[in-house]
Amino acid sequence: MSANRMIPYGRQWVDELDIQAVVAVLESDWLTTGPRVQEFEQVVAHCVQASEAVAVSSGTAALHAAMYAIGIGPGDEVILPPITFVATANAVVMQGGTPVFADVDSETLLLDPGAVKAKVTSKTKAILAVDYAGQPCDYEALRVIADRNGLALVADACHALGASERERRVGSLADLTVFSFHPIKAITTGEGGMVVTDSPEWASRMRRFRNHGISTDHHQRLAHETWEYQMVSFGMNYRLTDIQCALGVSQLSKLPGWIAMRQSIAMQYDQAFSDMPGINPLRRREGVDHAYHLYIVLLDQHQTGVTRSHLFRALRESGIGVHVHYIPVHLHTFYRERFGTGPGLCPVAEAAYERMLSLPIYPRLHDDEFEKVITTFRAVVESSSCPIGA
Ligand SMILES: Cc1ncc(COP(=O)(O)O)c(C=O)c1O
Repeated sequence: MSANRMIPYGRQWVDELDIQAVVAVLESDWLTTGPRVQEFEQVVAHCVQASEAVAVSSGTAALHAAMYAIGIGPGDEVILPPITFVATANAVVMQGGTPVFADVDSETLLLDPGAVKAKVTSKTKAILAVDYAGQPCDYEALRVIADRNGLALVADACHALGASERERRVGSLADLTVFSFHPIKAITTGEGGMVVTDSPEWASRMRRFRNHGISTDHHQRLAHETWEYQMVSFGMNYRLTDIQCALGVSQLSKLPGWIAMRQSIAMQYDQAFSDMPGINPLRRREGVDHAYHLYIVLLDQHQTGVTRSHLFRALRESGIGVHVHYIPVHLHTFYRERFGTGPGLCPVAEAAYERMLSLPIYPRLHDDEFEKVITTFRAVVESSSCPIGA
């Protein structure tokens, strides 16, 4: 790696086998809606212990399809955490529903079941939990709330492909689970997403939805020698190409090794920060096998004597691509103006936002890069005389 290049916070890993898999599709008859799509769906479903999988063009499309499948519409409320990418809440809005923000646990930043309970109304239709940073939420507790109130339980697991809790894979813990294959995620298809479920009915609705709401695909029309088709419901073009699915199949075979590498980097960070007061990694829930899409620390500025913004700037200037995940969604202008949200709505999330920092983590992060992150981090904290509030 060049000495001047920024170490990013996340990065894909595409090898020769991946490239060969893509080239093979480019040389075949089917660039889209061909055999690689079903193959990718089957291997992902098997990997995450689900019976149905529907491949779509992005994690955002997958969230939209999930909200469509469970019938979210105007007047319906969906409870979700504010510490997530905006796409989570936007999926509810796309269906005309109302996102209702419930606060997160202060140590894991995962949806707090107690806060969810307090937000349930007669209009609530679903809980949309987010497996933030790659750690599954407390689905046992969320399931109790969902069942008591007749709600669908949906997981935005865009960070958590390959994670599990007590041998149960993320993908089998909620009614519907959404994954993303954006380059920064556990595996990539360039852009891409998937929804998994055990419900054949929801899967069939989503398959139609990704294909303009048309009830048959061209394979069925070819088999029946007919040109006729019916658009029976509203839909989009959310299809994922065979080119992307071939890449996905090839990438998925490497997932277990990559998760192990991420976990090893996370353990090294934990160890490195263990003697640094005020640098607090997020708490790992008991029984969880963490996918470590992100490695996040919460800074206690009174202990470190350095502000998050100072640390962010100093690390970036030293070539460490730190990041902040995320600006709480309810603080974005669109949500304030459309839904009247704002500061004070989720105080735990808002306080955590002021303190959080994401550090580089990805399978191909070299030892010398890791060392550079840690040494620079220590040097900035130890040398900083930055006054609190700067
Ligand atoms: C939690 C979460 N949900 C949804 C998405 C959207 O996924 P995509 O970028 O594949 O549309 C992302 C992407 O960053 C995400 O982090």
